[in-house]
Amino acid sequence: MKPVVVPFPGQESLGTSLARALDAGGDRVSVVSVALRDFPDGESHVRLSGDVRGRDVVVACTLDRPNPRLVPLALIARAASDSGARRVLLVAPYLAYMRQDAVFSPGEGLSSCAFGALLSSAFDGLCTMDPHLHRHASLDEVLTIPSRVVTAAAPMAAWIVRESADAVIVAPDEEAEQWARAVAEAARRPLVVLRKLRRGDRDVSIDATTALPSGQPMPSGQPVIVDDILSTGGTLVEVVRTLRSMGAPKPIAVVVHAVLASDPRESLREAGLERLVTCNSIAHETNAIDIVPELARGVTELLEDISS
Ligand code: R5P
Repeated sequence: MKPVVVPFPGQESLGTSLARALDAGGDRVSVVSVALRDFPDGESHVRLSGDVRGRDVVVACTLDRPNPRLVPLALIARAASDSGARRVLLVAPYLAYMRQDAVFSPGEGLSSCAFGALLSSAFDGLCTMDPHLHRHASLDEVLTIPSRVVTAAAPMAAWIVRESADAVIVAPDEEAEQWARAVAEAARRPLVVLRKLRRGDRDVSIDATTALPSGQPMPSGQPVIVDDILSTGGTLVEVVRTLRSMGAPKPIAVVVHAVLASDPRESLREAGLERLVTCNSIAHETNAIDIVPELARGVTELLEDISS
């Protein structure tokens, strides 16, 4: 039996497009909405609007700005299982807290694992897209439930091939290399990996003189910067400035997750960015690349994995 999709309130567009993509076989995938309200004391109340008995429930909730979403999300998962759902999965196209993957200073904790433990206590499985796995080898180090990771590399590469005939894929640093390399390989375009120094949340720099490893020349063509996350925009602004100072044409930036802690578009334009596009893992005006088919494939595979 096909699953039921439950969109987190405010994420109905993600939920309905996921349901449509899961419906490819022709059976009806129903969407059950959630009524979410606050009690006078600030506690949350959730109520599912439809029947989920005996069904696999897929809760669709991207997890940028995760803190206010976390408690209602756990209540929705519990409401589904108390209403007789067979299994309750989370589809979180963007998975928060993955960059806090080390104890960087004494007194800190491993937030990625703390967050993963909370999600694992509420759900039976999780599907996400290009999580920021840098120091963790896989999501199994973060979650105690089965998971499926899908990637935006193919749709990003297809967009780049369509829009930029002579693209040179640029990774801002070694951390972003895994995403940029996958895109460069799928698009069959050259890759350069720059070197970034991060001194603080909003303080990053790329030194033009050492940006390219061991005197490697910048290949000719239009630079297309590929990164997994755009948050403050500090990284992208510095990469654009560096590329321009090296004499490169105006770059394009193609990013998976438009977290956008602030809106850097004006600074990016001033630095010389030609165009910014993102995937719809987080809804934003810059979305130009649809990753819902990838998520639907991941959910289908996850359901098959946990059924076998
Ligand atoms: C870093 O590790 C990531 O790959 C991104 O480069 C980073 O998160 C972007 O953040 P911001 O936009 O705040 O520079």
